[in-house]
Amino acid sequence: MYKIRKKQKLADRIWLMDLEAKRIASKCLPGEFLIVKMDAFGERIPLTICDYHREEGLITIVFQEVGASSMRMALLKEGEYFRDVVGPLGRPSELTGKTPEELRNMRILFVAGGVGTAPVYPQVKWLKEQGVTADVILGAKTKNLVILEKEMRAVCGEHLYVATDDGSYGFHGMVTAKIEDLVKNQGRHYDLCVTIGPMIMMKFVSRLTKEYGIPTIASMNPIMVDGTGMCGACRLIVGNEVRFACVDGPEFDAHLVDFDQAMKRSKMYQEEEGRALLKMKEGATHHGGCGICGGEA
Ligand code: NAD
Ligand code: FES
Repeated sequence: MYKIRKKQKLADRIWLMDLEAKRIASKCLPGEFLIVKMDAFGERIPLTICDYHREEGLITIVFQEVGASSMRMALLKEGEYFRDVVGPLGRPSELTGKTPEELRNMRILFVAGGVGTAPVYPQVKWLKEQGVTADVILGAKTKNLVILEKEMRAVCGEHLYVATDDGSYGFHGMVTAKIEDLVKNQGRHYDLCVTIGPMIMMKFVSRLTKEYGIPTIASMNPIMVDGTGMCGACRLIVGNEVRFACVDGPEFDAHLVDFDQAMKRSKMYQEEEGRALLKMKEGATHHGGCGICGGEA
């Protein structure tokens, strides 16, 4: 059992939780992820690690309420428990395999979108601990959806560029427009770009960085089931090869990822998710009698 030590609302339907998970906190690295389960019959939910405190034995997760399971998760209170937390899973960021000297010779740009800001934070924080300050673009649809700005500013200071699609805060425009501003208008040079956020964002970031000749890494979050490379749910096409995000990733060379195929696969269970959501919200009154949902919910 994994106790929820802290719960905090970051924005509308976006939550942060600190969990007591001593073993995971003692060894996890930026880029790795977890699978959580609320109870014996609960769905297995993959989540990237947003932060960790080794001495206190705490890990931080951030999630958005999007379906029935994440909505149930948002109802959990401080002091309550997750039945299972499995991790750390996946491979850590390839940056963690470089020497401090190699890192200091690199100019790195992180491009975070929406909830994808959460897994970017531990990487930027870890780099800061190695004496490297990265540039970070933090994109959100609007001001109220900007998350972890204070935490990110603490580890990259004036190298943080907030961008909102509607211009309500920071730079007016999508993250791709801010990349163009930094590279084209301000003449910045980058040796590496790391992008984490919605797949559509990573697709367009990757297209742009390819044009600029900037090697780019994307952290992929396809549907996952077992998280151990056995079920095949998280299958991706990378450089015309089949790869599994849970064991080969989640980070891949963005210029080789087939984002269109990944987006198509991630929509495969939308109908089932919709039914589960209706069942959760409407409970016993949702009999499926109208036939629209197939009558199974
Ligand atoms: P969002 O839809 O608000 O998008 C965030 C930013 O992405 C936007 O502000 C914009 O700047 C950029 N963006 C969106 N579409 C773009 C386009 N076509 N071209 C260029 N830039 C574009 O983000 P959200 O609502 O927080 O997204 C949630 C999604 O992020 C979910 O699908 C979730 O699964 C995913 N996510 C991914 C990871 C990961 O590891 N890759 C982690 C957490 C969440
Ligand atoms: Fe099953 Fe990756 S989640 S193979």
